[in-house]
Amino acid sequence: MATQAPEPLPAAEIDIHTTAGKLADLERRRYEAVHAGSARAVEKQHAKGKMTARERIDAFLDEGSFVEFDELAQHRAYGFGVEKNRPYGDGVVTGHGTVDGRPVAVFSQDFTVAGGSLGEVFGEKIVKVMDHALKTGCPVVGINDSGGARIQEGVVALGLYAEIFKRNTHASGVIPQISLVMGPCAGGAVYSPALTDFIVMVDQTSHMFITGPDVIKTVTGEEVTFEDLGGAHTHNTKSGVAHYQASDEQDAIEYVKALLSYLPSNNLSDPPAYDADAALEITGEDLELDTLIPDSPNQPYDIHTVIEHVLDDGEFLEVHALFAPNMVCGFGRVEGRSVGIVANQPMHFAGTLDIDASEKAARFVRTCDAFNIPVLTFVDVPGFLPGTDQEWNGIIRRGAKLLYAYAEATVPLVTVITRKAYGGAYDVMGSKHLGADINLAWPTAQIAVMGAQGAVNILYRRELAAAEDPDTRRAELITEYEDTLANPYIAASRGYVDAVIKPSETRGQVVKALRALRDKRKTLPPKKHGNIPL
Ligand code: HXC
Repeated sequence: MATQAPEPLPAAEIDIHTTAGKLADLERRRYEAVHAGSARAVEKQHAKGKMTARERIDAFLDEGSFVEFDELAQHRAYGFGVEKNRPYGDGVVTGHGTVDGRPVAVFSQDFTVAGGSLGEVFGEKIVKVMDHALKTGCPVVGINDSGGARIQEGVVALGLYAEIFKRNTHASGVIPQISLVMGPCAGGAVYSPALTDFIVMVDQTSHMFITGPDVIKTVTGEEVTFEDLGGAHTHNTKSGVAHYQASDEQDAIEYVKALLSYLPSNNLSDPPAYDADAALEITGEDLELDTLIPDSPNQPYDIHTVIEHVLDDGEFLEVHALFAPNMVCGFGRVEGRSVGIVANQPMHFAGTLDIDASEKAARFVRTCDAFNIPVLTFVDVPGFLPGTDQEWNGIIRRGAKLLYAYAEATVPLVTVITRKAYGGAYDVMGSKHLGADINLAWPTAQIAVMGAQGAVNILYRRELAAAEDPDTRRAELITEYEDTLANPYIAASRGYVDAVIKPSETRGQVVKALRALRDKRKTLPPKKHGNIPL
C-alpha cells in the first residue's frame, strides 16, 4: 500500500541539481501527496470507523492496479490564509484501475484534507477522471466524504459542482455511475450522487441532506439528528435516495463490486457473461414451485422463492431492498448472463403498486434498458393502492413512469404471471401490449379487470341488495366469476400470454426465452428525447 512507503529525505537534504536529487525530490513530493492529511485528521477518520480516501481505493480496486491522476495538483486560491497551505492532491484522490480485471475510473474525496471540501482544483480533478471514463467507456465510481463546497473558494467551487453535474448527466446511460457515500454529503453536493445510477450508503457514518439539522431548526423549528435526517437507514427506507444500506465500509465496497459484475462497461457493450449452459430437464428444486402458490388468493408467499428458483445458483443481488418492499428489483444471472428482475411482492401490501413501488421499478427497468440487461418480470399484483394519499401525491403521473419505462425498453422482456394480474396493473407489469417479448402464465394466474369480490359487488349490486341471503348469493357469484374470468386461459386464447406453464417449468422456459431473445434488435422512432412524466 502506498501509505506504507518509507519516509523520504527532507527537502533541505535533497540536491535537486543532480539526477539522484531530482528522483529523491519526486519521492518526497509523492510522499507528501500520500500523507496530505495530518496524522490527527487520519486518526479522527479512523476513530469514526472510516477508512481514508486511499485506503478505500485500495480496498476497492484490484491490488496494484491503481493509476493516479494529478497526485501533485495544488489549489491556486488566495485569501482566508489558504495560500499558506497547498496540499498535494487538493483533497481528492483520482485515477483508474481495475475491479475483477475490468477498467474502472474512481475518485475518492479525502476528508482529512480541508474536510474533503470541493474547490476549483479538486473539482477539475473529478471532471478529468469523469471525462476519462466517458472517453474510454468505463464505469466511474465516486467515493463521497466531504464538507461540500470549499467555503473560501466561493463561486468557483459552485461552478465546478455544476461542471460535475453536467458530466453526470451526459454520462447517464452511457457508462455506469455508482456513488459510495461514506461521510457527509451536504447541500447541492448531493446532486452528483443523485444523478448517478446507484447510491450506496454506510450505516451510521454517512449522511446526505440539502439543509442540515441547524438550518432546519432555525427555519422550521424542527429538531432532528443527522442520522434521522439523512442517514443511510433514512435514505434506504424513507426517501429511496439510496439503493443499499451497508453495515460498514467494506460491505459497501463489496456491494459495489457485485453491482459492477452485472453491468457492462458502457452502453455499447454487453455485461460480462460466463459460459454456463443450463440443464433444461425439470429438477427436484423446480418441482418445489408447483406447491408454492396457496389455494387462497389472499394468502401471501415470498416472491424471492420464485426468483431464486430461476436464477443461476439462486444468487440474487437486490437493489433498493429496504424501499418499497412491495416491489422487488435486483440482478441475477441466467445461463451466466445478467438479467434484471422486477417482481411484485405479495408479502408487502399484497404486492399492490403504489407511488414508491412504481418509481422504484421504473428506474430499475430504465437502468437495465440503458445497459443492455434483459428484464425478467414476475407478476402478482392486485392493482394500484387506493387512497387520497396516493392520488394527491401523484400516483397518476408517477405511476405512469413504469408504463413508460416498459414501453420504451428495447432489451429482451420476459414476463411470468404467477397469480394476480388485475386491471391497469396487468398492463403496467410488463404486459405483451406494452412490448414484452415472451409472456408466460402459471395455471394459478388470475388475469382480469379486478378481483372477484370487487367485480361481483359492482356487477350485481342491485341483485345482492334484493337477495334474501346476500352472502350466499355473493359467494355463488364470486365462484362463477373466478371460474370463468379469473384464469390465464382467456389471455392465452388471445395470445396475450404465449404459454401457460407449470411453475416447475419456469426456469427452463425462461432459459429458452432468453436464448431466443439474445439477438433481439428493436428501435424506437427517432426523437431528441422522450418526455417521461417526472
Ligand atoms: C472549507 C471545510 C468545509 C468547507 C469542512 N471544512 N467543511 N473547509 N469548506 N465546506 C474543514 C473544517 O474547517 C476543518 O478544517 C475540517 O474541514 C474538518 O471539519 P470539521 O468541522 O472539524 O469536521 P466534523 O466535526 O467531522 O464536521 C464535518 C462537517 C462540518 C459536518 C461536514 O465540517 C460542516 O458542517 N462543514 C460545513 C458543511 C457545509 O455547510 N458545507 C457547505 C454546504 S453547501 P480544520 O482545518 O479545522 O481541520 C454546498 C453547496 C454545494 O456544499 C453546491 C453545489 C451546487
